Parts: sequence; C-alpha cells; structure tokens
Amino acid sequence: MQRKPLKFNNGKFKILLFGDLHESYDMSGENAAAKSEDASNLMSKALDELKPDMVILLGDNARADSEMQMRSVISRIVYPISLRDIPMDLVFGNHDRECNVTLEEQIKLYNENENCYLRDDDPTITGTGNHYLTIKSSDGKRDVLNLWFLDSNNLVEGSQNYNLTVTDYDCVHKDQIEWYKKTAQKLAEDNGGKVIPAFLFQHIPVQEEYELLREAKPYEILDSVKGHGIFSDKYYVLKPEVEGYLGEGPCTPDENSGEFAAWKEIGDVMGAFFGHDHMNDFAGFVDGILLAQSKTAGFRPYTDGCRAGVRLITVDENDVENFTTQMYHFKEFGLKSKSLGPVQRNITDRQDMKLKIAGAAMGTAALVTAAAVTSKKLKNRKTGK
Ligand SMILES: [Fe+2]
Ligand SMILES: [Fe+2]
Repeated sequence: MQRKPLKFNNGKFKILLFGDLHESYDMSGENAAAKSEDASNLMSKALDELKPDMVILLGDNARADSEMQMRSVISRIVYPISLRDIPMDLVFGNHDRECNVTLEEQIKLYNENENCYLRDDDPTITGTGNHYLTIKSSDGKRDVLNLWFLDSNNLVEGSQNYNLTVTDYDCVHKDQIEWYKKTAQKLAEDNGGKVIPAFLFQHIPVQEEYELLREAKPYEILDSVKGHGIFSDKYYVLKPEVEGYLGEGPCTPDENSGEFAAWKEIGDVMGAFFGHDHMNDFAGFVDGILLAQSKTAGFRPYTDGCRAGVRLITVDENDVENFTTQMYHFKEFGLKSKSLGPVQRNITDRQDMKLKIAGAAMGTAALVTAAAVTSKKLKNRKTGK
C-alpha cells in the first residue's frame, strides 16, 4: 500500500475525529436506518463546514458477520469522507472484535479505499493496527507533526468478566509501549535528534483521565458520575479548569501499564484523544499533556440524544504546540434528528436540563451564554516541555 505523504495546507492542518460510530450491517434494530442516516448527516455536515485535512475514526467503528457485509458497512462509513477526497485513518475499539471478520481482514477492507492510511507496523506486538503517520510542512520539506495510532485491545483475557456483560477493559500493553518508545526515538534520530511533536489516538482512555476529575461533594451528587472499576467507590465531577462534559464515569482499565508515563519520558505527545465513553467530551491537561474525549458521532450505540458530536483539532505549522481543539455537536450544526423522539431530541442529559432551567429562569440571554461556554474552544496552555 503506497500512499502519498500528508502535508499541512497553507500552514494549517485540521483533523476531524469521529468517535464510536458503531455502524452495523444489521438494520433490524428499532429505527436503525434512521439512526445511520442521522450519523451520516452529522458526518457530511461536519466535513462540509469544518473542512478537515484528515479524518480519524476512534474505534468501535463497524460490525458485520462476513467479509461481504463488512465491506458494505465500511463503504457506508468511508463514503462521505472519500467522496470529498479527504485522507482518513483509524484505531480499532473493543467492539470491532465482536464480529466474524478479523481485524487484519478489516485493515484490508478499509484499504480498498485509496484515501485510507491504516497500517499495522508490527504484527508481532500486541494489538492490531499500531502505527504512526508523519505530516509534512506545507512545502513538503520537513516532518512537522506525528500521529500515533495505538490499539487499546479488548477486555482483559482470562478475566471472569470476559463475557461482555460486565466490563473489565484492557490497556495498551508493555510491548506496544516499548514499540512506541523505540519508534519515537528512531523518528527523533532522523529528525536531527529532536522528537517530532505528536498526537496519539486510541479507543480506551488511560487511567490518568481521573486526574481531570475530583470527588463530588455531597451536595453535588446529582451532578456527578460514578467512577468505573477501581474508581467505582466514588462519585466525580470535572475539575473547574477542564472543558466539556462528563456524562459517565470514564471506563478506563484497572491496570496501568505505564503508557502515560512513557509519553512523559519521551516528551513528544502533546495530546491524546480517546473514544469508548459515548457521552464524555471533556478535555484538560495532565502534566502538560492534553487528554481529550470525543463522544460518539453515531446514533446506533447508547448516546445522549442530539448531543452526538465530532471533535476538531487545528494545528499551525509554525506554532504546533499551541494547537486548539473543539467539540461540535449535532444540534449546533442545525441538524434535525430523524431517529430520536421529542424527549431525547430536546432534553438529553443533565447539561441540557441545566441550560433549559437557566433559560426559563433568567430568559434567553442566559441560555445563549451557557451554550457559548459549553462549546468554548480549548487552547493548549502549555509553555513548553
Ligand atoms: Fe463504543
Ligand atoms: Fe468501546
């Protein structure tokens, strides 16, 4: 598979993230076709309005029971992207394993589309589809940005919970971390000894996301979420400096394999972007590294109604570390859902509920102000590594 190198476009590079589409060949579920149409409309509208230079799928992408079916589902996902001639890449999620088509076969099927950059750089290490992709300056002369794609695997094998009824999520394994470190060092050698600033994409978030949260006070319980796994004995809210929305306890692995520590050791990762938790879209810094959730862009999986959304990352070639990122939600694009009933369409979560109460109590101005705060652009506040 030969693909032309990706470059910044007039000094900018914009990456659009689609999380947890959970598209399926099976259309027998309630409103399945309308749900797929809502997701497709969100993708098309976001592509037209945000004009990304690249699209990345964050895992739990597609489900089917045969190669023929999988080709059809992948075509449905990729079509709006390839129609606009936009390069794309992806990571796999835990649910991408729940079908009769192996991940290796799925890589081949995705690559039938010429705009797809998905590879598996080292089949000998844990996971499938671990790879990197460097982005060149607008003049094509130097590598400005690197993108890591890591497979966060499935559930913990051998666990008593390995029955998909109770979650017990796996992590990026130590051999994958060693591959990341070795490859980053090699890229740095080829780059005059300096690491290439990077973003990292994987499906299941790292445990360090909990450092963006604090324990809820008793009077905040209605506003809080219960933690997951080893964090499940407490209720949490976002720390005040964290942007976005916490809709559920981050479903991180119980084991910390040292991935975040490796990013700090190497010093190249400026931000890591995750899917998996369909209702979370918060973003904040831990030890100078942005940890950002991108909630589901789909309507087939569990979701919080019309708050399905996409995340945009914008990078300036001459100021890479001051990248920005922002969520854009279905409703903000002015789209109307064909699959959701009036309740889910209007009051979909605590955040919406609070906006409506504020609006009713204080008039339209309060509603507009609150909405502006929730969609505020998050700017990298790093001062250097
Ligand atoms: Fe998912
Ligand atoms: Fe998942």
